[in-house]
Amino acid sequence: MGTLDGKTALIFGVANHNSIAWGIAQKLAAEGARLAFTYQGRMEQNVRKLTTNMPETLVVPCDVQSDDELDATFERVGQEFGGLDILIHSVAYAPTEDLKARIVNISRAGFTTALDISAYSLVAMAKRAEPLMRQHGGGSIVAMTYLGSERVVPNYNLMGIAKAALEASIRYLAWDLGPSAIRVNGISAGPLRTLSARGVGNITAMFDLVEQVAPLRRNIEQGDVGDLAAYLCSPTARNLTGNILYLDAGFHLMGLGTM
Ligand SMILES: NC(=O)c1ccc[n+]([C@@H]2O[C@H](COP(=O)([O-])OP(=O)(O)OC[C@H]3O[C@@H](n4cnc5c(N)ncnc54)[C@H](O)[C@@H]3O)[C@@H](O)[C@H]2O)c1
Repeated sequence: MGTLDGKTALIFGVANHNSIAWGIAQKLAAEGARLAFTYQGRMEQNVRKLTTNMPETLVVPCDVQSDDELDATFERVGQEFGGLDILIHSVAYAPTEDLKARIVNISRAGFTTALDISAYSLVAMAKRAEPLMRQHGGGSIVAMTYLGSERVVPNYNLMGIAKAALEASIRYLAWDLGPSAIRVNGISAGPLRTLSARGVGNITAMFDLVEQVAPLRRNIEQGDVGDLAAYLCSPTARNLTGNILYLDAGFHLMGLGTM
């Protein structure tokens, strides 16, 4: 018996086997959930290959900047699953030149794109998930974030600004969707080696720092995120909403690095 037996989940953000979304998917599947995945353009082959051995899985294209593709995705999920219990938002992007730029040099277009893909997408997904989750008597939405939303993390730059908007969206969505019995939470994860993390750069230095400074003196693993997401989606977390949970071996506590 899994904690998510009979539940249905829609997962945004699998690019390859290192993706955080893939770590979450594996855990949700192990707990008994039936899964639907979206992919962005050229990621299709990766997602189809990864999911070949998952029974009754749905795989659909969705660029989160397209309202039409979002509509089609949720419509398809409604048709196939007859409702939805779980939504995983594990999507982020900022144009490289704007991510690397000094804050004062971020372009209007780059700022808009980063906020659209990394933050507004959660609002757009939640709007379409609400009627499907209501059909199942409620649901759980989980989004991925990072400490750079509230502290200055050199190199994280524009993505930190986008994550601040994402985290505020989580709180306001929790309030808005609470009466529909939909819970909305964020996981603020420590660094993990993924495609997106490479875009931020300096990941090796971040790993070393966490190992030296975090209270638990270690980095997190992809499976840790899966475990926490599965918990947040399970009935055990029934009264948790509007939270940003730090999953970083305690790193967020520290005011100073090594002494
Ligand atoms: N890797 C880390 O260290 C770390 C730490 C904390 C939080 N996060 C967050 O976790 C989430 C997942 O990132 P990841 O590290 O697994 O990297 P990843 O590159 O594997 O995943 C990012 C996903 O975003 C998708 N995406 C980007 N633009 C899109 C668009 N327009 N439409 C649809 N999908 C789009 C990509 O296709 C990809 O699947 C992101 O929100 C990221 O900010 C990552």
